[in-house]
Amino acid sequence: MMTDNYILGIETSCDETAASIVKNGTEIISNVVASQIVSQKRFGGVVPEIASRHHVEQITLVIEEALAEAGLLPGQLDAVAVTEGPGLVGALLIGVNAAKAFAFANGLPIVGVHHIAGHIYANELMQPMEFPLLALIVSGGHTELVLMERHGSFKLIGETRDDAAGEAYDKVARVLGLPYPGGPQIDRLAAESDAEIPFPRAWLEPDSYDFSFSGLKSSVINYKHNLEQRGEQINPAHVAAGFQASVVEVLTTKALKAAKEYKVKQVIAAGGVAANKGLRASLEMAFHQEEIPFYVPPIALCTDNAAMIAAAGSAMFVDGIRGNLAMNGKPGMPLTSWNQ
Ligand code: KG4
Ligand code: ZN
Repeated sequence: MMTDNYILGIETSCDETAASIVKNGTEIISNVVASQIVSQKRFGGVVPEIASRHHVEQITLVIEEALAEAGLLPGQLDAVAVTEGPGLVGALLIGVNAAKAFAFANGLPIVGVHHIAGHIYANELMQPMEFPLLALIVSGGHTELVLMERHGSFKLIGETRDDAAGEAYDKVARVLGLPYPGGPQIDRLAAESDAEIPFPRAWLEPDSYDFSFSGLKSSVINYKHNLEQRGEQINPAHVAAGFQASVVEVLTTKALKAAKEYKVKQVIAAGGVAANKGLRASLEMAFHQEEIPFYVPPIALCTDNAAMIAAAGSAMFVDGIRGNLAMNGKPGMPLTSWNQ
């Protein structure tokens, strides 16, 4: 008989200090996120040293709160799952060391989770995965199409050749004078806009599932400079709408093509940019038309959180994957399969 498992997830790879307890990899018991956005806003982005300092201040409180909210004692947990990489090295180290100390003190096994596996497994908190599955991962650091044939199996079929989608959002937002993080700001402006400036789409080679966003970013910068040289002002909403239309059309078209080619049973979106209203609507419509089941988690589970790390950690734990106390933060960790 299968017994229930309770996993404590810990996430500190970027600017959210988060801890969560998840039951059986599917049910959120508690989910605590301490965001640093307010203090990072002053600098227009994430300053690694400041991120690390915040994590140190918050991590113990956040873990205690996750336990208190769940009404569980450490002894009632089955394992600790922590983001091992990729991310900012100093930030990762805080989470990994907290997880190791907690695991050691309470005699619990530890599982090291890849941040992107976490974003993908956020979907398991909503509905069971069905394979083959296509995941579109769009975050501040990643833009990837990943094919999963079973749990714990990841095949990269396309990725960005330059900027990640979220990175492009944040950079274009900065050009438009919008505060950090730029994604939600552009999303809002684009939704309000009554017109859009046409910007190019980077399709790359016809059979490629790769992405490129740096050319689009340059087009926006050039457009702004050209207008300024003529003494004119840009309309930020029109630019935001045009930029977003380009990103959304390329992401939707490539994801749809891949879903058909690999005859997947389910498509999921993951990562911070999956919070984008325009992208969600476009993907929902495209997959609905093709009658391919498409899911995207609620916004709070798209952006960084620890419930997703606990969910992925639970799947690894059930498959017998264990880390050890020699574990370290891995800033450039590749997404490898734990089930071949
Ligand atoms: O997954 P995430 O929270 O952190 C990383 O792992 O990178 O993603 C953060 C990224 C940022 O670039 C942010 O601007 C973007 O997600 N983002 C959005 C939206 N909300 C967050 N981008 C577009 N539209 C949004 N609504
Ligand atoms: Zn993330």
